[in-house]
Amino acid sequence: MIGKETVDRILEASRIEEVVGDFVDLKRRGTSMIGLCPFHNEKTPSFHVSPAKGIYKCFGCGKGGDSVRFIMDHEKYSYPEALKYLANKYQIEIEEIEQSPEQREADSRRESLYVISARAARFFSETMWETDEGKTIGLSYFRERGFRDDILKKFELGYSVESWDALIQKAVSEGFKESFLEETGLAIRNDKGKLYDRFRARVMFPIHSFTGRVIGFGGRTLKTDKSVPKYVNSPESEIYHKSNVLYGLYFAKKAIREHDNCYLVEGYADVLSVHQAGIENVVASSGTSLTTEQVRLIGRFTKNVTILYDGDAAGIKASLRGLDMILEEGLNVKVVLFPDGHDPDSYVHKIGSSAFRTYIEKNQQDFILFKTTTLLKDAGNDPIRRAGVIHDVVESIAKIPDSIKASVFVRECSALMQIEERILIAELNKLRMGKGSRKEMRQDARQDVPEPLPPPDLMYPEETGAGPAAGSVVKDSDEHQEREIVRLLLNYGHELVHWDGITDTYIAPYIISNLADVTFDDPTCKLVIDEYSRRMEMGELPTAQEFIQSQDQKIAELAVSVFSSPYVLSENWFAKRKIYVRNETENMRATVLGGIFHLKKRKVERILKSIMDEIQQEKDEDNQAILMQRYLRVKEVEKGISAFLGSVIVK
Ligand code: CTP
Ligand code: MN
Repeated sequence: MIGKETVDRILEASRIEEVVGDFVDLKRRGTSMIGLCPFHNEKTPSFHVSPAKGIYKCFGCGKGGDSVRFIMDHEKYSYPEALKYLANKYQIEIEEIEQSPEQREADSRRESLYVISARAARFFSETMWETDEGKTIGLSYFRERGFRDDILKKFELGYSVESWDALIQKAVSEGFKESFLEETGLAIRNDKGKLYDRFRARVMFPIHSFTGRVIGFGGRTLKTDKSVPKYVNSPESEIYHKSNVLYGLYFAKKAIREHDNCYLVEGYADVLSVHQAGIENVVASSGTSLTTEQVRLIGRFTKNVTILYDGDAAGIKASLRGLDMILEEGLNVKVVLFPDGHDPDSYVHKIGSSAFRTYIEKNQQDFILFKTTTLLKDAGNDPIRRAGVIHDVVESIAKIPDSIKASVFVRECSALMQIEERILIAELNKLRMGKGSRKEMRQDARQDVPEPLPPPDLMYPEETGAGPAAGSVVKDSDEHQEREIVRLLLNYGHELVHWDGITDTYIAPYIISNLADVTFDDPTCKLVIDEYSRRMEMGELPTAQEFIQSQDQKIAELAVSVFSSPYVLSENWFAKRKIYVRNETENMRATVLGGIFHLKKRKVERILKSIMDEIQQEKDEDNQAILMQRYLRVKEVEKGISAFLGSVIVK
């Protein structure tokens, strides 16, 4: 864990325009800076950076936050990873606190494993570029296969000489402990206690973590002798967990984000060739079958995966089932097949880069439709096998968490299979009922936040319209008003005012105490208000920055969006009543009271609506009369609020 003081120093040192500027071309405009948003595709810039507030906000896609959030979002780092990135950028030393001596030792051991791995990669690469054996054997092998020097350099490829201890000798002479070599698997100790190099006479592919550190190696033999294993790979180690690593991801990240798509291939050679052909958003699962962790790793960058398959039919059928797992993670899957048993690597070399790019573009098919046609072809006219196909395909569709997407597939597959949609739907429901799919569980989890539909007559014009799409969550009707309160608190909570005969009060306690009887419905607004109240009880006034820096992404996003937009509600509020003020601080009292009582009004209106519903359902006349009494009392309150609002605002 990084100590609070260090975190503060990192946050203080980080200049948002510099942090963002490393990735986005920013131009100054007035007090802020703008550029093309790195989180969505756009041609005109809607991505704003405010150096004064230390935040960024895209008015196109809505992403926003402080320096840490930017690095987390852009590089897909965890919170501590992002802090370390910034600490490194601003040369702030991190002393991690609350670490037991054991933890500290484990950390420094892990660090040593990274260092020895990086050193080994450099050793292999220097061997390939600078020694005779390296050049004549390793380098010439890669060049013969058609790899360009810039690609060999970018991926840090290398060569390990024909020797039992070349790496060991080098490392030990530089002071590395033998145990580090053993723990990374770079060296192996035999029964007699002798240490020897794992990689000998092989071309070397360093494997990078997605943050770019070398964590393991694959070494390919150049011998055609079948008794020699084609690849020798690093074993699992404290820094190399095969199930959550994708070969090439570090070099593909940027392009994956740009194209919002990730190509998936099988081998190291495929990654290099496809990358060299100009398709840089490519990664490999490297021999092992794809794991859920690997799919989630891709999912951090894009929701679209295209699998580049070897063309062999048996292999394709075998892997069909495995791909359902990608659907289950909510990703869209496409496939591309290659002719005549070619793999991506051999096919690029056969037809050339630009033809290859065209081929990929033209031959992508959606995975589910591909699966349907492939299985159908296989089943021919055999009715029992066709029934099996229906079941298999529906099984895949059932994995898709998005029910709208799933229903599109049901329609398309029903056309392909020439079978009525309702039969597929029945089959789909059977599967869902049987297992209690993940999707249903997610919806259950949501139910602890009741989100009633606002009564239509109380909806504001901007909230009416098409109505909620099927299956989507109904937006909470008081959200605007609640967000306005949060906005006022974060922007003006610290300002001292003296109104209503009260002298010198801060705006925050004024707002909070006036809303003591109001329950916030929006869970994120509620969290902010609760935290704010809690801190006030301790005699503190939290700053907007603290919420912007919250590790809870929802809170941080809310804080940024209310902090970066001058108006949430009040613009409408003033405009609707045709009241013009140059800016809202000009009449702070009206702004604050407007926010408070507008929210109160909404809550009261909702109570009125629910009483009215009750009256309409009530059969008994006496009860109806009682309810009517209650209605009128609340109505008085509402009138009072309206009148009050009118008076403060008009003033
Ligand atoms: N693999 C492995 N061990 C093997 C064979 C394969 O670990 N004995 C892994 C490697 O990660 C390899 C991937 O499976 O990259 C795909 O195998 P293959 O297609 O045989 O390897 P390529 O990398 O394509 O090698 P080449 O084109 O040089 O034959
Ligand atoms: Mn190959």
